[in-house]
Amino acid sequence: MLQEPEKIKLDALRELEDITNIRELEAWRVRYLGRRGKLTKILRGLAKLPPEERKVVGEPVNVAKTYLEESFRQKEKALRETQLAAAAKKEAIDVTLPGRPFPAGRLHPITQTLHEICDIFVAMGFQVVEGPEVEWDYYNFEALNIPKEHPARDTMSTSWVDFKTDRGESPMLLRTHTTSVSARIIETMQPPIRVVEPGKVFRYEASDATHTPMFHQIDGQVVDKGITMADLKGTLYEFARRFFGEDRKVRFRCDYFPFVEPGVEMAIECLVCGGKGCRLCGNTGWIEILGAGMTHPQVLQRGGIDPEVYTGFAFGMGIDRMPMLRYGIDDIRLFYSSDLRFLRQF
Ligand code: DAH
Repeated sequence: MLQEPEKIKLDALRELEDITNIRELEAWRVRYLGRRGKLTKILRGLAKLPPEERKVVGEPVNVAKTYLEESFRQKEKALRETQLAAAAKKEAIDVTLPGRPFPAGRLHPITQTLHEICDIFVAMGFQVVEGPEVEWDYYNFEALNIPKEHPARDTMSTSWVDFKTDRGESPMLLRTHTTSVSARIIETMQPPIRVVEPGKVFRYEASDATHTPMFHQIDGQVVDKGITMADLKGTLYEFARRFFGEDRKVRFRCDYFPFVEPGVEMAIECLVCGGKGCRLCGNTGWIEILGAGMTHPQVLQRGGIDPEVYTGFAFGMGIDRMPMLRYGIDDIRLFYSSDLRFLRQF
């Protein structure tokens, strides 16, 4: 009876040493210190003993109990501390780790140029509109004074869409110029009209350094009362100044396009030689950048606008050539090659 508490204490301490979590510790506490615990049982039994024996038997039990209670508290504290440390380690942020790179994309140089050109015209009061890439023969040619058999069709090798009318003609095509959008605008809007029409165009041609079967154009169209050639020149001069710089010389010469009368071509002083003559400008000192003219009365009439009341001017230019000129890029195919080493430069 006398050695019993000491034995229980040693057993308990041995077990306590192997305990690794709070749940096991609680079971241990119940086993040794709980209401039905081994030590408690002995203490209960004291009541049956004669009073003089109670102290002799009881004291070592109480000493052992106190000892185990203190051991319990220490173990509990130690377990909670390791648990906290583990949790902290799991959630810890290593501030010395380098951050994850956040790859930022960028706009394609053609898109950037397109935005820049649109911005210039928007600042002058123009509205940006778009039209379909698969187009009716009517808007691409007929409505623009280019009927069947007209030689102007030969200058724009056309990709036809494979569906035919009863007469065996194909009435749909991939638009060869964004001027098709002008034909639609004249039909659907009422003057005053001031629009620019950017987009993709298609020509049935093999690729080389200066040609791709798909490229980009932007057309413009102004229709109002009293619009004259002076408006055309003023607007396009201003565009050239804003896009190519204040001092860039600009030249207009006569040209022919079926949908304008008179028609002109605008050139800027060569960006490479500054007008002296070089390979880029074919020794002329000038680089043609757009076609323009006063909208043909018949084109207005066909669109339902009275040419006796309204006049207009129109222009159209290739977009891809602009960054080529500005950055001295000599092969248009680079824009469509998806070569990131090239594209990341812009
Ligand atoms: N559409 C013509 C082309 O692709 C360019 C052009 C010339 C557009 C004169 C116009 C214009 O609007 O007035 O070559």
